Amino acid sequence: MSAPAPGQHGGDRHDAGPDVRDAAGPGAGDLGAAGERDVPGSGVRDAAGSGGSGRARVVGLVFDVADPDAAHAVAEAVGEIDIVFGNAVMRVGPQDEPRAIIDEYTQVNNFGTTRLLRAFGARVRPGGRMLIVASSLGTLRHLAPVLHGRFDGLGSLDEVDAATARWRDEVADGRAQAMAWPGFVNIPSKIAQVAAVRAVAAARRDILVAAVCPGMINTPTSGLWWDVRDAASPAQAAEALLDLALGEIDPAHHGELVRFGQVVPWK
Ligand SMILES: NC(=O)c1ccc[n+]([C@@H]2O[C@H](COP(=O)([O-])OP(=O)(O)OC[C@H]3O[C@@H](n4cnc5c(N)ncnc54)[C@H](OP(=O)(O)O)[C@@H]3O)[C@@H](O)[C@H]2O)c1
Repeated sequence: MSAPAPGQHGGDRHDAGPDVRDAAGPGAGDLGAAGERDVPGSGVRDAAGSGGSGRARVVGLVFDVADPDAAHAVAEAVGEIDIVFGNAVMRVGPQDEPRAIIDEYTQVNNFGTTRLLRAFGARVRPGGRMLIVASSLGTLRHLAPVLHGRFDGLGSLDEVDAATARWRDEVADGRAQAMAWPGFVNIPSKIAQVAAVRAVAAARRDILVAAVCPGMINTPTSGLWWDVRDAASPAQAAEALLDLALGEIDPAHHGELVRFGQVVPWK
């Protein structure tokens, strides 16, 4: 992999302290890292501290993507940036009642994603990348045709947010049960993420904007749903994502969902 303009955005969910902010001044080859809920910032700082010998300046900032203002504040602290990954997902399991979790779930997974795209979109340098970790489930093929119009052809993040809010409200008040929505809330949520990527990509052609499926990974979240003992480790799964982030840009990936370097058709 080569990294002509390496970097990532940084997130510290709870404590973007001045020391870290100082390290993330404008022009840094900037890193984005996910948060650590129990010991605020420790996972991010470990990751940032093991940055290897590349040229990127790696900083660790943690923020809550469900906080309406946090992404914007972190983006301002970071300044210009080369690579943004949206990866956060709220952990839910088969025992969770969709009506009970859908508000927070969409705040993290969907409105968190669109806030990230809005906050960092204008700050990504030409030639940079905005990558949203979605899933192969995030295509219209996994949605009943009668619902395709909800997420197909949306032209802006505002339209995506409105479509997400409409679905959320239908789940929350029980109407979704009488409709064709899948019971597995991950599916519409991932479709909405890919719809957001498609909307941003249509408006921004000087950077790569793509959704990416990491394949099955052995993580605590997937372990709630499937037997993932033989699935890829997070480090293994990260390889294809880093290829997308640091390798040659393939114009065919723009606005698409990419899995192991191949486009997964939207419909
Ligand atoms: N695992 C799979 O097989 C698989 C397959 C396809 C797609 N994916 C996608 O890959 C991504 C990662 O999934 P995963 O399995 O690695 O999940 P995971 O192990 O549960 O990790 C989720 C990450 O999101 C962070 N997070 C949760 N809520 C957040 C919030 N409000 N603000 C900021 N960060 C938050 C978590 O931080 P804390 O650790 O601090 O809680 C954690 O770092 C997700 O988008 C998922 O849908 C996963």
